[in-house]
Amino acid sequence: MQEKKDMYILGIESSCDETSVSVVKNGTEELATVISSQIDIHKDFGGVVPEIASRHHVKNITMVLEECLEKANMTMEQIDAIAITYGPGLIGSLLIGLEAAKTLAWLYQKPLIPVHHIAGHIYANSLVRPLKFPLLALVVSGGHTELIEMTNHYKFKKLGGTLDDAIGECYDKVARVMNLEYPGGPKLDKLSKEGKPTYKLPIPLHDDSYNFSFSGLKSAVINLAHNEKQRGEELRQADLAASFQKVAVESVVSKTKKAIEDKNIKYLIVAGGVAANQILRSEIEKLAEEEGIEMSVPPMKYCTDNAAMIGAAGYYAYKLGRVADLTLNSKANDKLR
Ligand code: KG4
Ligand code: ZN
Repeated sequence: MQEKKDMYILGIESSCDETSVSVVKNGTEELATVISSQIDIHKDFGGVVPEIASRHHVKNITMVLEECLEKANMTMEQIDAIAITYGPGLIGSLLIGLEAAKTLAWLYQKPLIPVHHIAGHIYANSLVRPLKFPLLALVVSGGHTELIEMTNHYKFKKLGGTLDDAIGECYDKVARVMNLEYPGGPKLDKLSKEGKPTYKLPIPLHDDSYNFSFSGLKSAVINLAHNEKQRGEELRQADLAASFQKVAVESVVSKTKKAIEDKNIKYLIVAGGVAANQILRSEIEKLAEEEGIEMSVPPMKYCTDNAAMIGAAGYYAYKLGRVADLTLNSKANDKLR
């Protein structure tokens, strides 16, 4: 009998401010990943400046690719296919990764696999262990807050999502009001450990749906900070961080609990940058234990943007014949499918 051949996917990710390349074996094993982050460049502006981000992707992409192949001790000839984030994201940033992927696909005659950025975040979990279906994915990132049911590979059904801001966006905006450096999410998470949830904040969209809302919570924090200043009171930063976290996390955990119970879910995964949040991780673990279900959260390094998750998602896409030709284009917005 012929032995099953291993598949090596080169993943490329450039949808926001990280230029990343990775080599992933059989969708589950990361051989090497290189991430060049632009955080230090954008933090002076309090957020990502799209034009600057694209320029840095152009500058970095070749170096990141070469470094990754060197780290994996592989050549392009040994790569079986190239997986690329085609969207959603910043269009100028996406285009740089896409052009690199297309050039490599053409030059080395390799299949080109288009990957949706959120599929990438979800498949980051398969770098821990292969996904098991049916599952519920809680997607929490800078641009997305969604509950997605998956009945098989690439069979996504959106149960609900944010009606306004994404949770990560809300973390970053609240952190900015508190004068924490961009990206504020991780800093706010750390600071909250020193505080107590003593400020009263409204629980967002406390209803019967699977939807979320974060703009009201963001406004409540802005108003609170403003009122304290007007009264000449000093803002208790750590307490505010703890109060905000409590409400934001409670909101996503309660909707996740509802979906688990309504849909009789047995396997829960968490995906996206905010999955790195310590309180969210521990509350989700608690929830899974209470519900008696299995769960997985990616290790910290696979939570925020990286190309390993794109390589993993690309493997399963390729198995389903999801390949593109060289007319593939980037999309700033696109439905997960
Ligand atoms: O997934 P990601 O890297 O990029 C998008 O696809 O959006 O997510 C970035 C988001 C940022 O908003 C960042 O502040 C947030 O994830 N984030 C966190 C933490 N680490 C990253 N938010 C809360 N707590 C954290 N520890
Ligand atoms: Zn992301």
